[in-house]
This record gives sequence, C-alpha cells and structure tokens, in this order.
Amino acid sequence: MKTADIRSAFLDFFRAKGHTIVPSSSLVPASDPTLLFTNSGMVQFKNVFLGSEKLPYVRAADVQRCLRAGGKHNDLDSVGYTARHHTFFEMLGNWSFGDYFKREAIAWAWELLTQVFKLPAERLWVTVYHTDDEAYRIWHEEIGVPAGRIVRIGDNKGAPFASDNFWQMADTGPCGPCTEIFYDHGPEVAGGPPGSPDEDGDRYIEIWNLVFMQFDRAPDGTLTPLPAPCVDTGMGLERLAAVLQHVHSNYEIDLFQHLIRVAAGLTGTGDLANKSLRVIADHIRACSFLIVDGVLPSNEGRGYVLRRIIRRALRHGWMLGVRGDFFWKMVQPLVEEMGEAYPELKEKQRFVEDALRTEEQRFGETLEHGMRVFDEVAAKSGSTIPGADAFRLYDTYGFPVDLTADIARERGLSVDMAGFEQAMEQQRERARAASRFEAKGQMPAELASQLAPTAFLGYETLATQGCKVAGIVREGKQVAELAEGEEGLVILDRTPFYAESGGQVGDTGALANGNGRFEVRDTIKMGGVFFGHAGRWHGARPLKAGDAVDAQVDAARRQAIVLNHSATHLLHAALRKVLGTHVTQKGSLVAPDRLRFDFAHHKPVGREELARIEALVNAEVRRNAEAEVRHMAYDDAIAFGAMALFGEKYGDEVRVLRMGEFSTELCGGTHVGRTGDIGLFKIVAESGVASGVRRIEAVTGDGALAYVADEERRLGELSQLLSSGGDDAVEKLRQLLDRQKRLERELESLRAKAAGSATADLAGSARDVDGIKVVAARLEGFDAKALRDSVDQLKQQLKNCVVLLAGAADGKVSLVAGVHGAALGRIKAGDVVAHVARQIDGKGGGRPDLAQGGGSDSAQLPQLLSALPEWLSTQLGAAA
Ligand code: ALA
Repeated sequence: MKTADIRSAFLDFFRAKGHTIVPSSSLVPASDPTLLFTNSGMVQFKNVFLGSEKLPYVRAADVQRCLRAGGKHNDLDSVGYTARHHTFFEMLGNWSFGDYFKREAIAWAWELLTQVFKLPAERLWVTVYHTDDEAYRIWHEEIGVPAGRIVRIGDNKGAPFASDNFWQMADTGPCGPCTEIFYDHGPEVAGGPPGSPDEDGDRYIEIWNLVFMQFDRAPDGTLTPLPAPCVDTGMGLERLAAVLQHVHSNYEIDLFQHLIRVAAGLTGTGDLANKSLRVIADHIRACSFLIVDGVLPSNEGRGYVLRRIIRRALRHGWMLGVRGDFFWKMVQPLVEEMGEAYPELKEKQRFVEDALRTEEQRFGETLEHGMRVFDEVAAKSGSTIPGADAFRLYDTYGFPVDLTADIARERGLSVDMAGFEQAMEQQRERARAASRFEAKGQMPAELASQLAPTAFLGYETLATQGCKVAGIVREGKQVAELAEGEEGLVILDRTPFYAESGGQVGDTGALANGNGRFEVRDTIKMGGVFFGHAGRWHGARPLKAGDAVDAQVDAARRQAIVLNHSATHLLHAALRKVLGTHVTQKGSLVAPDRLRFDFAHHKPVGREELARIEALVNAEVRRNAEAEVRHMAYDDAIAFGAMALFGEKYGDEVRVLRMGEFSTELCGGTHVGRTGDIGLFKIVAESGVASGVRRIEAVTGDGALAYVADEERRLGELSQLLSSGGDDAVEKLRQLLDRQKRLERELESLRAKAAGSATADLAGSARDVDGIKVVAARLEGFDAKALRDSVDQLKQQLKNCVVLLAGAADGKVSLVAGVHGAALGRIKAGDVVAHVARQIDGKGGGRPDLAQGGGSDSAQLPQLLSALPEWLSTQLGAAA
C-alpha cells in the first residue's frame, strides 16, 4: 500500500465512524507560547480539551504535519541513527471531545489495523499505564490480546506521571494515561519488547498511541481533571507505511526512497543505504514545511531551529563530497511526493527554494573552513572538544553546537557542553554591556516636559559658539552636573552635531568652555526631538545645566560620512537601474569608513552587474551635479519623483535631496555640495543577509583611494612572488594551481596505495589473543583521518579484532582504536586508547567500537604498542 493510499484509507475509516475530517494545521502553533512547534495532532485541539473552545463536532480525524526538533519532544539527534526517527513526520489521528472513550478508541484502532490494513494480530503488542486496569481489561477480555503481549508500563522517567505511557504535549496543558500499540518486525531485527532493557532496538516499533486525555497539568505539576474525558490518538504515518510495505525502516518506504534516490543523484552517492542520504531526505521535509509555514532561517527561536536543521543537512551533503549547492534542488521532488496532500507546499515551491538556496550559499562560505578547524581541534583535544572551540565554531563559522556535537559523535568524541554554555554566557554579557549605553538614551519624562526640542544647525555649520546646556542625563536620570571624569548625555538647546538616524551615524567632537571639555563620542536622539551628546567631562570645575559651551564637530569624520551618505543615494538609484525597480531599501549604515546598503533582491548580484553599478555611480560623481535640498509637502515630494521608504513615518513637510537627474530621495541626513566631492566610489563586498535581502558595502573618497592602493600593493607582492612583470601573473598562478592539483592527486593515490599495503601487512601480522585478532602499530606520516580509514579497513578484514594505530607528526601522536565483532562485548575502544594515551602524557576516549586520542611522541611508544597484546590478555582475563 502506498503512503498516499494509507492516508486516505485512514480518513475514510474514521469518516465512516462519524468523524469530521479536518485539515492539518500549521507547524507553527497559532498563538500558543508554550510550544515551539506543532509536535502532534492534538495541538490544534488543545483549547477544546481544556473546555475554552467549542467545535461544531465531537469526533474528528486528520493527518497532521508534525515537527519534533527543539522543545519537549526533540528527535533531531536521533535522525540518521535509527530506522524510525524523523524531525518532520505525519501523524494520523482521531479524536473524541467528551464523546467516546477507551472502549471505542481501542476497538476501532484494532479493527483498522487488523481488518482494513490486515496486520496479523499475533504481531501486535500493547502497553498500558501501570494503573490503568480498565484499558488492560478491554485489551485482554474484549479484544482478546493474550496477557503475554500486554505490558504495563509505570513511571519510568523519574517522576510521578512521567512515563512512556502518560502523554503530555508540553510541560503544561492537557495530558493523560495512554495505551500504545507496537508492531513486531520479527526476530531478524535486533531489539526487545516494550519495557525490556533492549526496547530501543528496531524490532518492536510503536505505531499508534491512544491517549485518554483526562487532566490539565499546571506549571507546578498539579493535575486538574478536564471538563470531560477525551481521546487523542496519534499514529506515525511513516512507521505504518514501513509495516504495510514490509520494510524494516521508515526510510525504505516509497516516499523516502524517491527522496533518497534524488539525494543520491545530487550528491553523486552510489550507496543508497548511506546514513547521510537519510538525514538529507528527512531534513528537506522539515525545512520545506517550516518555510511554507512562515519560518525563515535566523539566529533565534524557531528560525534558529530551522537554520540548525538546514546546516545539518548541508554538512551531510558536504560529507558526501558536495561542494556547491544542492539542498534546495530537493524541493521539486518533495513537491512531487507530497504536493497533492499539501497544496500549500506546491504553491510556495519557488519561495521555499529561494529561501533554502540563500541559506545554503551563506553557510557554504564558512562550512569548508569550519570543518578544517574542527579537524584541527579534534586532533589536539583528546576525547572532548573544549567548549571554547565549540563556541568559536559557532560564532565564527556558524556551526550550531548540536552540529558540532553530531560531527564529534561520528568520530567517537564528545563536546564540553557546559564550557560552550559558559562561553555563550560570556558573549551575552558582552552584548548586554554594549547595549547598556543605549538604555541610557531614554529621556527622563520630567526633563522632556521642561525642554524645547533641540535646534539642529549641522546642515550649515560644524561649529557653534555659546550653546546652552539644557539638561544632563546620567544613568537614565536627570542630574544637575557632571564632575571630572563622569560620563553622561548632554542635551543642548541647539547643536551642529548630527544625531544618529536614517542610517547615518552620530557625530563626534567636543563641547568646551572655560571650565573644561566634554569629549563627544556619539550623538543620539532622545525622546525623538532632543539631541543627546554622549561622552565624558574633563574639567577643573563640573559641567552644569545652564552652562554655555562651544560645540565643535569632528570635521574630517563628518566629511567622510557625508561622502558615504550621498554615495548611498547614488548607489540606490544605480541598483534600481541595473537590477530593476523591485530593489527597495531594507536598511543602511552610513559611517565614516564605509557605507552599507541592504536591499530587497532575490539573488546574489553578479560580478558584472556590480561592475556596471559601480561604473554608473562613478559616472554620476564625475558629472559633478549639484546636490539640491528642498523642503516641500510630502505629497508634492512624491509627485516630484522622490523615493520614500515604505513603512517609514514622515512629517507633513519633508526634506528632499536631489542630485542631478539621477537621484531624488527623501532624506534628513547631511550631504555633499556637489557629487564630485565623492571623488571615487568602490564596492568592496556583496553578500546575503536574509532570505531575499542582499547587502552591498562600499567606500568613497580617501577611503576608496586607500582601498585601491592596498589592492595594488597586494597585487605587487603577488607578482613579485610569482616573479612576473604583473601582466602575466594570473596565467602564472593558474599554471601553478593546476600543477598543485595534479601533485595532490598523485600524493593522494600514493598515500592510498601506501595505506593499503601497510594495512595489508598489518592484517597479516595480527596476533591472536584469546580468539581475538590484535594489531597495534605505528604508521609514519598518517594523520588522524588516515588512521581512522586504516582502522576501518582492518576491522573489515579481521572481523573479530582490536586495532590500535598511532601516527606521529610534529612531536605529537594521534591514536585511533577500533574494536569489532565478538570482541565488542569484551573490551572498549575507549579503554584501549586511554590506556596508551595515559602513558604518553595524553588522553583519549570515544565509543566502544571507535575511539581516538593523542599524546606526545615519546620513546616509550614502540614498547607500549608491542606490549598491547599482553595488556589485552590480562584485561580480557580479568573481565572473564
Ligand atoms: N498526542 C499523542 C502522541 O503524539 C497521540 O503520541
């Protein structure tokens, strides 16, 4: 039975039993702050259980899209490691809102499974909550399930009502005991029945959970009965499909096989069972539906969960050898599989593809480098990646910490999570310290009521004598004076200082009088109309409210800002000419050293387009048009052709800046006299900042000349290194790189040959210790990765074995140990590594079957290696 047919058979069954079929709700729960994502079918009915919402029906059934990544139910870390976990899955569910209860819920579930889906009854096991005698009786006496296949499960999660058989959506809200139906995949699959020590294996799989909702859980843990007992059931569509399609893994069902084949094609992977393909196939579903439901990658909340899932998928693609983008190309095949059941996916296909591609390009820039950093860190860290390094990977290379942990886990390493959290906390503290100052920009209400708005003189002048100190604010409070060395915000009655707004940064400079000097390090708007000069007072006597001061703006800095601001307007106009009028401003920063302009555009701006944009702006600069400022009514300004920012509030009268025929914009900032003042405009960077938003950074005037000079110097150095006259430098470099590639390939194949023959020799020299083949050897010139490959090869060849390989470089030794076959139950790879590492001043650890470590290259190493068989034999003897 195909997955699509299972969906409809389920709904048909419950429709015939009087249920209303409702559509799947969004993955983002509507106005439920207790929940990150819709994690089960009941989420949309939460208020109905609680009695605060009434529906026109008392029985419902649906197929709900669910996400279990982040929050109370989180399976992200299990994806790829088991046959049945997903981040995204579909849940088939039926509900009774105070209508039927245990008997009907159980009887119908049994009828559907055994009569419609024709599952053999003897393959089905059930669990009940330990005190739920009623459910036990119904299963045993009414349905006829033998006692041997009914398991009572108690509070096995460390607290009252914390049990696999007591379901709750989140830490608070509706909950109740449940009964679960399991399918036995047969003795050829490893794993034990529910409640047994091996229950986590893949043999007995829970397919359906019937929850008898009876309580509302409060934050303090108390349970209050619901207005009426309800039924909430959930059956994993993918698990059921696996059972009905006679496969043991959800990933082998029709829907996933299609996605896995596409992923294999895109990544050039021959082995369809490769775990990374499963991860990618799982993650494309989660990511696409999250985007369909309005989540976009970001650094917090739901957006960060999405970002983590995307980056995890990209890393798996990278492991399979992909070095460009591929993930977004999975959207089309997903639409083929699921577009019918979820029309919203089909409708938003383009949008989803664009959002994924943007994120893919973004992370692509740092992934490769980050992986190299990870390898370096792993080589020097023993069995645990230090928190500070995990933080560096997060902060600089965009590796979410669970991604780092995932990579570590594959190598048999762990991450110091507490250390990571500490580094995170330190960064938060730095951010808090930085933002504290802003909080001081608050205008005390009483002071605001006493003052007139500050008059801004800075369009015409940079220096004003005899301004009056109208008020002083220190740590958010009005004060009468600032003593020597004190920081504060000084509000003047009039000022030539520009206060940060419209992207243009605030001016710096000084306020001085006979008593001393106030160094202004920023100017900000307070309460919208007061100009606060932020800085520190140095003077023989205090600066007092009412004092007169001479205000002087740092003129060179202001001039550099002015050039960048006018150039920003020219850039905006040029972007619209070259890319199209869909380009609108999304943000800007006009600072003395550079300008930054964010704008709506759906793809990266190409090299050639950038060159045309730059040329257009420079042509306007040379045209040397006058920058005219006019004040007019808002409507007249728009009629005059001025660009206004959507969503921005403007007063009745606006200031319009026009530079020749090229650019007309509403703007309150400070600008050049003529465009020629800009001198030269150079774009220095283009990047993406969010889905559909690009960023251009550029420099002007002296900054642009310095940039060109610096490029020229670098080119000169390069030519010198290449011993070229300059003109043929590119060609020379190309030849060199080609040669290097060739040599690397040769080296790689020689290494592989050497490794192959070294491994073959080693396999031949394996010693027999108590029935286990043991190899311990040092391989010159092998790095940790080459050692791991050799250990893997030896494991394949020797089957039942313990292998320890050591490689040395720069006075450091890397160690990799592997245990395979029957030896696995008798000795752990981590113990083998730790034993040797300890004696060469190092450390190590990892999984039972693979571990790694390191230490210093000591003269003792050869002897330690040759003594390993003896040591092992005592270990095995002791264990026996
Ligand atoms: N709400 C129950 C579950 O998700 C049915 O398992």
